[in-house]
Amino acid sequence: EQKRKFLHELPKCEHHVHLEGTLSPDLLFTLAKRNNIELPAHFPSSIELCNDRYEKFTDLQDFLDHYYIGMSVLMTESDFEDLAWDYFVKAKHDGLHHAETFFDPQGHVERGIPIETVVNGFHRASQRAQAELGISTKLIMCLLRHLPSQDGLKTINDAKQFYQDGIIHGLGLDSSEKPFPPELFEECYALAKKNCPEIGLTAHAGEEADPSFISNSLDLLKVTRIDHGVQSYRDDELLKRLAKDKVMLSLCPLSNVKLQVVSDVGELPLRKWLDYGVPFSINSDDPAYFGGYLLDNYLAVESRFNLKPEEWVQITKNSVDGSWIDAARKKQLH
Ligand code: HPA
Ligand code: ZN
Repeated sequence: EQKRKFLHELPKCEHHVHLEGTLSPDLLFTLAKRNNIELPAHFPSSIELCNDRYEKFTDLQDFLDHYYIGMSVLMTESDFEDLAWDYFVKAKHDGLHHAETFFDPQGHVERGIPIETVVNGFHRASQRAQAELGISTKLIMCLLRHLPSQDGLKTINDAKQFYQDGIIHGLGLDSSEKPFPPELFEECYALAKKNCPEIGLTAHAGEEADPSFISNSLDLLKVTRIDHGVQSYRDDELLKRLAKDKVMLSLCPLSNVKLQVVSDVGELPLRKWLDYGVPFSINSDDPAYFGGYLLDNYLAVESRFNLKPEEWVQITKNSVDGSWIDAARKKQLH
C-alpha cells in the first residue's frame, strides 16, 4: 500500500543491527551441519522449534542465552561473509542506503576463531555491499559487557590494526546490561580512542537499566550516540541534554517488544522524544530473532503513531545526520 511505498522510499540508515543477530534458523542449521557443530540438547532442534522459542523470550538475558549458542555455528571467513551479505541484500530490498553494523568478536574468539577470520569475512561482505548494492557501510566492534574489562582491553589491542586501516570504524558495548554498568569500561573506551582518534563511540544503554546508565555512558565513555536509550523518557534533564547535544538514540521497536521492554510498540515514548527534539533512528537490532527487518520496524512505528510525512522526513534526516559519514555522503542522502 501507499504508506509502505512512502516508508520504503525514505533514504534509510541503520545504526543498530548485530550481524550475528541476522542469523536465520535456516542458515543456523545449515551451518551447524556443514561445520559439524553439535548444538546442546536444550537448544531447539528444528527451524519450527526455533521460531517457537523466539515468541517466548522473557527478557534480554533469556534472548542472549540462546543467541550466543546460535552464533557458535559460525566458523569460517565465508560463514561470516555469507551471513553479512545476506543481511545487506535483505536490507537493500527494504530500502536501506547506509548501514553501521555491530559484531561481537569476543563471542567468536572465545570459541577459538581468530579475530581476523571474523573481521575479514564481515569486511568482504561490506565491500561487496558498497560495490554491488550501493550501500555505504561501517563496522562497529562491540565489547561483551559480561566479560572482564581486561578481556575488552585485549580485544581492542588485537583489533588496533583494523581500526588504523579504517576497516573497523566504531566501538560499542552490548550483552547483559543491568549487572555490568558503563563505568566498568571507562579504560576500554579511553584506550580505543587513544589507538584511533577518529573512532566512533557508542554503547547500549537504558534498554533495561535506568537512565543513569545513559548519562554515565556519555560522561565516562564519551559516547556520541546511545543504543536503545528507551529509559531516557524517565529523566527530563537527560532528555534536554540529548536534544541539546544531538545525541541520537538508535531505537529498535520490535526488539523492545520481543524482549519485553514494552508490551507494544505503541508504548514507546516516541511523542516525548519528538517533543523534546531528541534525535533517533529506527533499527532492527537482531532481525532474525525479533520477527522483522528494517522496514518492518518502520511499519510497526507507523501503525501505532500515524506520523505525518514531514515527521518521517525529519526522523530520516536526523538519522542521516547521526550517521558516521562525511558531509558529501550526507548530502547524497538528504
Ligand atoms: N542488547 C544487548 N546486547 C545485545 C542486543 C541487545 O539488544 N542484541 C545483541 N546483543
Ligand atoms: Zn542491540
